[in-house]
Amino acid sequence: MKKILVTGGLGFIGSHTVVALQQEGFEVVIIDNLSNSTIEVLDKITSITNLKPEYHNLDLRDKTAVKTFFANNAIDGVIHFAASKAVGESVQMPLEYYENNISSLVYVLQEMTANKINNFIFSSSCTVYGQADELPITENAPIKPAESPYGNTKQIGEEIIKDTTKVSDLKAIALRYFNPIGAHESAKIGELPIGVPQNLIPFVTQTAAGIREELSIYGNDYPTPDGTAVRDYIHVVDLAKAHIIALKRLLDNKNKAAFEVFNLGTGKGNSVLEVIQTFEKVTGKKLNYKFVERREGDITAAYADTTIANKELGWKAELTLDEALLSAWKWQLTLKG
Ligand SMILES: NC(=O)c1ccc[n+]([C@@H]2O[C@H](COP(=O)([O-])OP(=O)(O)OC[C@H]3O[C@@H](n4cnc5c(N)ncnc54)[C@H](O)[C@@H]3O)[C@@H](O)[C@H]2O)c1
Repeated sequence: MKKILVTGGLGFIGSHTVVALQQEGFEVVIIDNLSNSTIEVLDKITSITNLKPEYHNLDLRDKTAVKTFFANNAIDGVIHFAASKAVGESVQMPLEYYENNISSLVYVLQEMTANKINNFIFSSSCTVYGQADELPITENAPIKPAESPYGNTKQIGEEIIKDTTKVSDLKAIALRYFNPIGAHESAKIGELPIGVPQNLIPFVTQTAAGIREELSIYGNDYPTPDGTAVRDYIHVVDLAKAHIIALKRLLDNKNKAAFEVFNLGTGKGNSVLEVIQTFEKVTGKKLNYKFVERREGDITAAYADTTIANKELGWKAELTLDEALLSAWKWQLTLKG
C-alpha cells in the first residue's frame, strides 16, 4: 500500500482528497497546523471512509519538525495543499504569505529530495494567468505579473518546483484550480467558514441561511453578457479525483516531463448572476443581493481550456453547477444546526 503525505489535509480541498485517496486504497498521513481548519475534520473523514488517517499537528514553517517528520516516515508521494489562500489578506500581510507559502514548500521539497521521495503534486491556481488575453485559458497562456502576493506565491512556487525537478529525481505536477466549490455528498466535510468569506459560494450560502443580511455583488458593469464577473466553478469532489489521477501518473511513471501543469476546471464560465439564479432554483431559497462597486484585483472573466487535462489525465469534470451548489447548501445547513 502506497503511503501518501497530504499537507493541509484537514482543509477544504485536502479533506476531500484524503477521502478519495483512502477510497482508492492509499494509506494517508496528514500534516496540518489547524491554522484554517479544525481537528473535527479528522473524525468526519474517518466517519466517511471508516479509516482514520494518521495525523500530525505540525507547522511546515518549522524546518526542524519537517526534517524529523520525513526522517521518521516512509512516504511514497506528497500532495501539498498547505498554504494561506486569502487573496485580499495577502495584500495586507505579504510577508506572512511569502513565509507560509514559500518556506513550507521549500522545506518539504528539501526533505523530499534528501529522502528520495520523487512524487509531488502541488496546489496551484488560475490566479497565475491574471486576466488572460484569450478565453478559454490554456496551460500555454502567458503567466502575467501577479495581482497579489498570494498569486505571486503560486507563480514562485511553480518556479521553485520546476527548478528542483531539473537537478533531482523529483517528478511534479502543478494543478491549476479554477474556482473550487461544493462539498462532499455526505455533507460531513466542506469549506469551513472561518472569518468573513471572500469567495462567492460561502457568501451565498451564509446569506441564504440568514447569517448575512445581504449578498454584495462586486460590479455589474463588466463586459460580460449580464455585466457580472464570470468564473469556472469546479466541484471539489471532481477536483479531488484529479489529484488521485495525477498522483498515479507519477507513481506509474506515466508523466511526459519531470514538471507538468494541468488546468482543473469545467471549461464553462458562469456569471455571478447565473450562480445566484442556479442556487435559487436548486434550493428554492431566495437570495437578498445588491450590486456594489467592483472589487480591486478582480478580473472580468476566467474559465479553463481543459483539453490537456482531459486528454493527458483522462479526467473531466462530471458534476454540475446544480449539484455543486446543492451540496454547498446541504453543508451550510449542517453548520447552522
Ligand atoms: N479554495 C480555492 O479557491 C483555491 C483555488 C486555487 C488554489 N487553491 C490552493 O489549494 C490549496 C488548498 O486550498 P483550500 O481551499 O483547501 O484551503 P484551506 O485553507 O481550506 O486548506 C489549507 C490547509 O492547510 C493548513 N495549513 C496552512 N498553513 C500550514 C502550515 N504552515 N503548516 C501546516 N498546515 C498548514 C490549514 O490549516 C488548512 O487546513 C491551497 O494551496 C490553496 O492556495 C485554493
